[in-house]
Amino acid sequence: MLAEVLVYLTTPCPTAHRRLGHLKAAVDLWSRAGRCAAAWAPHYRQCWSVVERAMADLPRRRKVVVLGSGLVRDVPVARLAAAFETVLLVDAVHLSIVRLRLVRHRNVVLVTRDLAGLASDGRPSGDPLAEFAADPEVDLVVSANLLSQIPLAYEDLAAAHTIATLPQPDAIGPVLVAGHLAGLAGFRGRVCLLTDTEQRTVDRAGRVLETVDLIGGHRLPVPDACWTWTLAPFGEDGPEHELVHAVVGYVDFNRALRTSDAA
Ligand SMILES: C[S@@+](CC[C@H](N)C(=O)[O-])C[C@H]1O[C@@H](n2cnc3c(N)ncnc32)[C@H](O)[C@@H]1O
Repeated sequence: MLAEVLVYLTTPCPTAHRRLGHLKAAVDLWSRAGRCAAAWAPHYRQCWSVVERAMADLPRRRKVVVLGSGLVRDVPVARLAAAFETVLLVDAVHLSIVRLRLVRHRNVVLVTRDLAGLASDGRPSGDPLAEFAADPEVDLVVSANLLSQIPLAYEDLAAAHTIATLPQPDAIGPVLVAGHLAGLAGFRGRVCLLTDTEQRTVDRAGRVLETVDLIGGHRLPVPDACWTWTLAPFGEDGPEHELVHAVVGYVDFNRALRTSDAA
């Protein structure tokens, strides 16, 4: 608990992002990642493998942009820093502890952005990925387990009716997920997408008690890899159930989209 308070207090974070709960969510994520390290390790290995496949045969490696970089555990940052001239890590908040870990990588740049594409009054504020897509040096983009997370802060706000102009709570997920996918389609460089798509609540007998869609009902093309991520092993969310996420990985998401459109 003391460690969490220290990380919270030492992390620089724009007030607007703090108000949206990004800082608290990031500290909670860090804390949970520590408690669930063993359960999350296979998920990280799968993510790294997809990113490594995405970077393997790129003709040029000038800039890589990691969207939703967070704890920077699901991307092989040392390998990215060695292979690319510049690594841009983009997130609503970069925890002090993550900043410290990255100091030795001179070509890693932290960019603080809210990637939801909504202004503080809840109205659409344009494509938050446009500034990165406009950069002709971006050879690889990794959307790193961000897609399902973008709506979360806004769903809470919409439910609390704090911002009258926000779409209805039910519509926020589909709108923001569609916005991120449309933004990814705007890149000329390769886009590697990692995302969880569904949460299953499973009891000790292996029965699925509940299934929740995490990406606003969107149907994604056939992935290059799929796996499960035990987000909350037994005891984390409750003693008698675990939360298991279905995750998909795309080495080249825009190619997968074109292939599925053509089929
Ligand atoms: C599941 S975590 C991703 C994990 C991360 N790639 C890692 O290795 O730890 C989701 C990340 O998305 C970020 N995020 C959620 N909503 C966001 C938003 N609207 N804008 C920018 N980042 C956001 C969170 O801060 C968090 O770091």
